Amino acid sequence: MVLRTIERIPLEGKRVFIRVDFNVPMDEYGTITDTTRIENAAPTITYAVERGAKVIVASHLGRPKGKVDRRYSLSPVARQLPGILGKPVAMAEDCIGQRVAEKIDGMKEGDILLLENLRFHPGEEANDASFSRELASLADVYINDAFGAAHRAHASIEGITRYMDVVGAGFLMKKEIDCLERGTAANPERPSIMILGGAKVSDKIGIIGHLLNEVNTLLIGGGMAYTFLKAGGVKVGKSLVEADQVDQALRTVSEANRKGVKFLLPIDHVVGDRFDPKATKKVVPNGGIPSEWVAMDIGPKTVKIFLDEIREAKTIVWNGPMGVFEMEAFAQGTISIAKAIAQSKAFSIVGGGDTVAAVKMAGVADRISHISTGGGAVLEFLEGKSLPGIEALRERREER
Ligand code: 3PG
Repeated sequence: MVLRTIERIPLEGKRVFIRVDFNVPMDEYGTITDTTRIENAAPTITYAVERGAKVIVASHLGRPKGKVDRRYSLSPVARQLPGILGKPVAMAEDCIGQRVAEKIDGMKEGDILLLENLRFHPGEEANDASFSRELASLADVYINDAFGAAHRAHASIEGITRYMDVVGAGFLMKKEIDCLERGTAANPERPSIMILGGAKVSDKIGIIGHLLNEVNTLLIGGGMAYTFLKAGGVKVGKSLVEADQVDQALRTVSEANRKGVKFLLPIDHVVGDRFDPKATKKVVPNGGIPSEWVAMDIGPKTVKIFLDEIREAKTIVWNGPMGVFEMEAFAQGTISIAKAIAQSKAFSIVGGGDTVAAVKMAGVADRISHISTGGGAVLEFLEGKSLPGIEALRERREER
């Protein structure tokens, strides 16, 4: 999909509203624990500054439900931004209104102003027209660099574009779309494999359905594997099973078979006598999970089979851990997959908060071709859904 990107828009002297996704994790003291999303948006902000724009940066943080709640203030981000950008950053006490407009009037070319959390106003999530218009009135140019929020039809993502003459995509948005399309397009470099894990089948069934035509092999691990195994008549003990997904799981497997897609489920398991980091553990083959035990990780034989597939692949998309990797005793499967992807020469995409955390834990983040900043947005993209944030940019392009 061709989008008008920031590089094709004159910015000098313009008030440029850049929507970013600074929804970053923080600890109980308000310290940001992972600045990846801020670092990823930095090139777009820096570019606009260097082109002599008056740069207005806007984001949501958390879910304050349309009310001012200081726990969700973007102040901690305002404190970190100058260090990341190497430039001073001013912060506004709100994201709309007279005082914000006055602050913007006083900006010089190259100045940066971070607005306060957009979700302090109910109009943001409601995609309210008058709130969208108020946001639009602050700027001459609108740039969306918030891929992580592109699945939300909110005022600063969708509504605002109706009231702006010039709209475009930032570098991060463009990179996310290009990489995800390359990994999932109708003709990815083959063999193309998708590795899916995480707790729930229901979260991933849409992705499988959408990508069954594009992948050669599906590797399934994590909690979701046990619904498939149960559907196949395998005893899974107390492992997680979504009873209402069993029929769908069966249909998915037969659809994969019909399309000639290799559909690989775990053949052995690391099980625990309880869901606990200190649980007693053992490795069992399929059918060997004792009735009171729970599967916590893929077993070593499964790891070997999955690694063989990864070694041969030319395109790899990974979403969802293979086990309870937050517990050291059950991290082996997930970490092995992360390291194998890093070693492979394939074009590799990793998406989803937990999966990205696992890749970082394995110390291989710099050897993955593309680590997406999106959580829910990646899932929806991989399901083939149209994302309002991307559509809004595209529609405007076509109007021109
Ligand atoms: C995310 O973290 O996935 C995005 O920032 C979207 O946040 P939301 O799920 O609260 O809309």
